[in-house]
Amino acid sequence: MEAIRLAVLGLNQGAKAARDAAASERFDLAAVAGMGPQAQAVAAELGAPLYEDYQELLESVVLDGVVIALPNGLHLPAVKAALAVGIKHLLVEKPIADTEEDARMIIDACDQAGATLLIGHQRRSSATMLFLKQFIEAGNLGDIVGIQCSAIYAKPDSYFDIDWHRTTGPLLINAIHDVDDLHYLTGMRVKRLYAAARNSIRGGEVEDSASIVFEYAEGPTCTYFVSDGVPGPWGYDLAAEEMHFINCRPGENSLRVFGTKGSFGLPNMDFYRYGPGQYGWTEPLLKTHYEVGRPDPATATLEHFGDLIDGVELVPRCSGEEGLATLKVVQAILKSAESRSVVELDAD
Ligand SMILES: NC(=O)c1ccc[n+]([C@@H]2O[C@H](COP(=O)([O-])OP(=O)(O)OC[C@H]3O[C@@H](n4cnc5c(N)ncnc54)[C@H](O)[C@@H]3O)[C@@H](O)[C@H]2O)c1
Repeated sequence: MEAIRLAVLGLNQGAKAARDAAASERFDLAAVAGMGPQAQAVAAELGAPLYEDYQELLESVVLDGVVIALPNGLHLPAVKAALAVGIKHLLVEKPIADTEEDARMIIDACDQAGATLLIGHQRRSSATMLFLKQFIEAGNLGDIVGIQCSAIYAKPDSYFDIDWHRTTGPLLINAIHDVDDLHYLTGMRVKRLYAAARNSIRGGEVEDSASIVFEYAEGPTCTYFVSDGVPGPWGYDLAAEEMHFINCRPGENSLRVFGTKGSFGLPNMDFYRYGPGQYGWTEPLLKTHYEVGRPDPATATLEHFGDLIDGVELVPRCSGEEGLATLKVVQAILKSAESRSVVELDAD
């Protein structure tokens, strides 16, 4: 099979996809786009032709697929530009877009062009998530009753040297991953939520902590806490040992799913239940710990993209509609925190 001709637009977060593509025989990293010394360094490291203007790249290079890792506001124009030159496979970083309107236009444009759209919610390619999703689907937990989830991170001072890190809070940067995880794992849709946000740690323009109560259309409820200014191991990225730049602290669970037959802690992969014929707190509560591989989920996402391009897989792990559903929940969270009121979602 011929190598897949790929371009990566945007070389900060996109540098990971560019490096993965360059390291894989399956892909031919035909070109990259980005501006400034960091983009120049990545292009030089990988020996890939660099374009400062992504439009020029798309008009100049013949491609089978494109990874769009540009700032969110450029996702829609870049998708349109890629479709205009006939590209049929697009991997767009999360969030699908900044606004629901842009997201809808991205989805419709891809549909009309008959193009495959994959949104880069990379945790959908984590081995932990795939395991738990199948474990739930197999009925091991019984009926899901409730969920507790947290995203606890202590971001270093240097993180806030980047302008937009001071104006975009952990709800949009971190909570969006957890919201998407819950969609993916359970298939449930948020019907109603209330969010209370604070900026009491850094006193900045945006929140540095928030608590949220979710009600799902299917019945269960979820409580969630996020903060990017407290030390603790109860965030997926610290606990899962998947992010190469984080000093991880495995052994804890950031997510607990409670079911009528048992409860599961992720990413430490702990399942609690009673033995056959036993039930209740006077009986021994049994624990099974599962070992799963910890492949890099971003690398696995690019492999999945390759499978979609090669036709080995037909269904994107995160479609445009799923990316939009996640975006809608995060926007509802922001609206609730701002208005200090319950927000209803159209969870159909
Ligand atoms: N999946 C994840 O965990 C994750 C993590 C971080 C960021 N992201 C997403 O990745 C995307 C990019 O985020 P980032 O943090 O890398 O942003 P960034 O602003 O740091 O980098 C953007 C890149 O795009 C390039 N660029 C901007 N305009 C361009 C143009 N007109 N032509 C060519 N290149 C251009 C810049 O030079 C830079 O290389 C965003 O959608 C973001 O939400 C995803």
